[in-house]
Amino acid sequence: NKGNYEHYMQKEIHEQPESLTTTMRGRLIRGGSCKAKTVLLGGLKDHLKTIRRSRRIVFIGCGTSYNAALAARPILEELSGIPVTMEIASDLLDRQGPIYREDTAVFVSQSGETADTLRALEYALENGALCVGITNTVGSAIARNTHCGVHINAGAEIGVASTKAYTSQIVVMAMLALAIGSDAISSQIRREAIIDGLFELPSKVREALKLDREMKDLAKLLMAEQSLLVFGRGYNYATALEGALKVKEVALMHSEGILAGEMKHGPLALVDENLPIFVIATHDVCFSKQQSVIQQLNARKGRLIVMCSRGDASSVNVGGSCRVIEVPQVEDCLQPVINIVPLQLLAYHLTVQRGYNVDQPRNLAKSVTTE
Ligand code: UD1
Ligand code: F6R
Repeated sequence: NKGNYEHYMQKEIHEQPESLTTTMRGRLIRGGSCKAKTVLLGGLKDHLKTIRRSRRIVFIGCGTSYNAALAARPILEELSGIPVTMEIASDLLDRQGPIYREDTAVFVSQSGETADTLRALEYALENGALCVGITNTVGSAIARNTHCGVHINAGAEIGVASTKAYTSQIVVMAMLALAIGSDAISSQIRREAIIDGLFELPSKVREALKLDREMKDLAKLLMAEQSLLVFGRGYNYATALEGALKVKEVALMHSEGILAGEMKHGPLALVDENLPIFVIATHDVCFSKQQSVIQQLNARKGRLIVMCSRGDASSVNVGGSCRVIEVPQVEDCLQPVINIVPLQLLAYHLTVQRGYNVDQPRNLAKSVTTE
């Protein structure tokens, strides 16, 4: 049931304030005057000790689920102090990469049925790792075959392009980081700030959704383009990859997410006055580096669209020639949840304007059950 929406993807983008609320329901505890704020993940509470003792945490997934894990990686590293590595499921299998008994392998999958991820799970089980699932589908193969896990509870996702599952996955993995780190006194203030950030996230996402009109106008401007680059770094490297994935898979426009730190190592050669470049430059520790990236792109007459935190427009648009999109600011590690929203809206409107099928992009299936 699409309700008042024309497409499932559109509905699922707009229902993110509600899906995020459901994801967090019963799992965040805001303490009274003396009680600290904490996270409770029922599916993991008996396994946290083992996870904390592991030598490494390995995230394994495909497509959007991989990107969600990438977005959560920095906060998991920060709060757990455990090395976190990333594996695309098919690549892990192609390489038969090392997985050890001392590893915690975290399998991220909306459907819980993706063949590559499932094969990687079998492989990690054979190698003796603790296997944790992060899935949206109760009773799915990944939920059944992992040792423990967390359901993201985002509700059924019908559009082939994953949107609300992505933001709920990030939130669950941020909560995973909080749960693993919950015994460290040194990070208590940071953890409480993140929990406060989680509480205000649904309303901030609702604010970001008000950019719908602006993104529709931007889509009109870009609809005839061949290509769109998306630059991000730090917490928002994943946002760049995921934004580009949405644009390519539904709007059928070439798009590439680029790690801004790699700009001078190749991508800079592409910059001219025609190619549109979307730069994510919201306020965090990487902000000044991202400002200098913008300056260098401007110096080469790049056609820039810059996403920044509300109030930062004048400090990102120094030359005065870029188009600026301002988004609400949240705790840095949760900012990817906000920043993907305008890019989801852009991909959606580009698809409608280019006349393509929004909910069933050509050649794609919602659940990829073959390798
Ligand atoms: C559970 C109930 C929820 C109830 C809540 C009340 C289920 C599915 N969930 O939620 O309805 O409101 O208790 O306390 O009945 N699991 C895996 N792999 C995965 C995902 C989950 O093994 O990929 C396991 C978990 O370890 C756990 C169980 O499935 O044993 C349920 O997980 P989850 O729904 O996340 O647990 P709760 O949030 O506690
Ligand atoms: C992109 C998309 C795919 C899936 C990928 C993994 O919008 O939907 O990239 O994310 O096929 O699917 P799950 O999460 O079901 O394992």
